[in-house]
Amino acid sequence: MTVARAVRAVLALSLLGALPAHAQNDQAAAADGLRLYTTLCQACHMPDGAGAGPYPKLRDNPTVRRAGPAYVAQWVLFGYGAMIPFCNLLTVDEVVDIANWLPSHLGNTTAAPPVDPEAIRAQWPSPASCP
Ligand code: HEC
Repeated sequence: MTVARAVRAVLALSLLGALPAHAQNDQAAAADGLRLYTTLCQACHMPDGAGAGPYPKLRDNPTVRRAGPAYVAQWVLFGYGAMIPFCNLLTVDEVVDIANWLPSHLGNTTAAPPVDPEAIRAQWPSPASCP
């Protein structure tokens, strides 16, 4: 391990050390969901999720709330119309993180279950459908 990596590891441990492991994982996944939304989704759906013109609002979105993470994952994996598919840009874990994040952020709450990596891997589109 290089010095820089060791320092980063110690910093990460001291930041996370007070929390139980599952809470650390939840927090890391939520932080990744926000990072992904900010870098990939907000350009079209707006930073607050309010949408604009042809880009639907994701904030307080009845379908996102009802259909939950599995619904968001479908959009992210396959795209539709003017929304590009992200299957060529994201890892399985990143799709999981953004799909689980959106239905419980931006004014949404959901009773639908979270998605997991196995489910996402199983429905990953063929390379031909990932431009
Ligand atoms: C290039 C612009 C663009 C980007 C970037 C984009 N979207 Fe979209 N998104 C759209 C458009 C346009 C639609 C509506 C498509 C249609 O109905 O024809 C849409 C629809 C959706 C819907 C369905 C909304 C509903 O009311 O049913 C979800 C969910 C969604 N996007 C999530 C995301 C997420 C999550 C990201 C980031 C990973 C993202 N989008 C990035 C353009 C975009």
